[in-house]
Amino acid sequence: MVQKAYRAQIFHLLDDPYLAGDAFEYFKDGLLVVEDGHVKAVGSYRKLGKTLRASTKISHYKNHLIMPGFIDTHIHFPQVDIIGSYGRQLMDWLKDYTFPAEAAFKDPKVCKETARFFIKELLRNGTTSALVFGSVHEGSAEALFAEAHNENMRLIAGKVLMDRGAPANILDGKDMGRAATKRLIKQWHGKDRLGYAITPRFAPTSTPEQLAMAGMLKAQYPDVHVHTHMCENKDEIKYVSELFPDAADYLDVYEKHGLVGDKTVLAHGVHLSASMCKRISASGAAISLCPTSNVFIGSGLFNLAQLRRHKVRHAFGTDIGGGTSFSLLTTMSAAYSVCQLRDLSLSSMDAFYMATLGGAKLLGMDTYVGNLEPGKEADFVVMDLKATPLIARRLKNIKRLKALMFAIMILGDDRMIAETFVMGTSVYKQ
Ligand code: GUN
Ligand code: ZN
Repeated sequence: MVQKAYRAQIFHLLDDPYLAGDAFEYFKDGLLVVEDGHVKAVGSYRKLGKTLRASTKISHYKNHLIMPGFIDTHIHFPQVDIIGSYGRQLMDWLKDYTFPAEAAFKDPKVCKETARFFIKELLRNGTTSALVFGSVHEGSAEALFAEAHNENMRLIAGKVLMDRGAPANILDGKDMGRAATKRLIKQWHGKDRLGYAITPRFAPTSTPEQLAMAGMLKAQYPDVHVHTHMCENKDEIKYVSELFPDAADYLDVYEKHGLVGDKTVLAHGVHLSASMCKRISASGAAISLCPTSNVFIGSGLFNLAQLRRHKVRHAFGTDIGGGTSFSLLTTMSAAYSVCQLRDLSLSSMDAFYMATLGGAKLLGMDTYVGNLEPGKEADFVVMDLKATPLIARRLKNIKRLKALMFAIMILGDDRMIAETFVMGTSVYKQ
């Protein structure tokens, strides 16, 4: 059994600090011990250093902080090449940029090359797990799973289901995407660290028949996830009420078709009623909050106080390419700004929880990842506390942990990620 050890500052969350108080561990001179890809021990170097085997090498990172890998609960793999596209709101943005970009994924070469770039970019940003939208093409999900499998990542993805409301070349055929989804579930769901999500894009691009088919698939494979968008943008919400005049509200469209349960992730949820919050909470479904996307596309400010009041599960997504950064640090900083504009100051502990253990819980993978408790899979990042002259200067004199983590989340981004590990293997090094 190979034992490896990493010495640095170490920080991780043990529970939700909003509910459980100071549920974190921090070791100023810490040691992370990894055996066979799993965390064997975490603690102070002084205590744990003595317990190592004589043959164990210690990697010592001075001026670095080790923490769990980040978890992105909503991102689109075929939108890498339209990130930062100018102008207009959601429905036009989809028509002008997204749909043409996704059409290119008919080509298996585009799928493969983009999947490789996408997975590398996740790791370069310290993101070790994600819930990912493919395009409508089976080959897009296929290529993404293959690349994630290569890197041994814990990742959930799905091919998009859409059979109306977009150009014909990116719509599912007569069987509404059923056969391709079944093939992908059989091939990839539960294969090593991978999982499948049934992925109807959103209500406007699926006929009621396709939504019913998606619900039937979910009933047939109860163990798979469901991933879609909901209540992101006011024009979108109005459009859904016109398309589904018999539905009580947007959530009701998904509820009626058996798509809302404890394995459902609804991206955005910027504009939710109290009734929707209550029903989401009761179902165990969750909201992926995507602040860089919401301000970039002009969708609005998510309402964290409302989600907390109704005990709706939530964590962060980048929503590339509506979102403007792969970095969960940048996403946390944007979330802080959004909350400020709603009169709520998001603490560093709450934000880091949502970007790590909270995200893992949302995706049902917290028994495996999300923090550095012994027994968990060793997915972690090494952050450079001197990544830029300004960061070095600002962090140098901070004495208190919460202030340190707050400055990291506001100033940090991909430049701080010095190294990323997946199951104890280094998969990215700056
Ligand atoms: N709603 C439906 N599709 C999309 C998408 O690709 N991006 C975003 N941000 N919202 C959506
Ligand atoms: Zn999205």
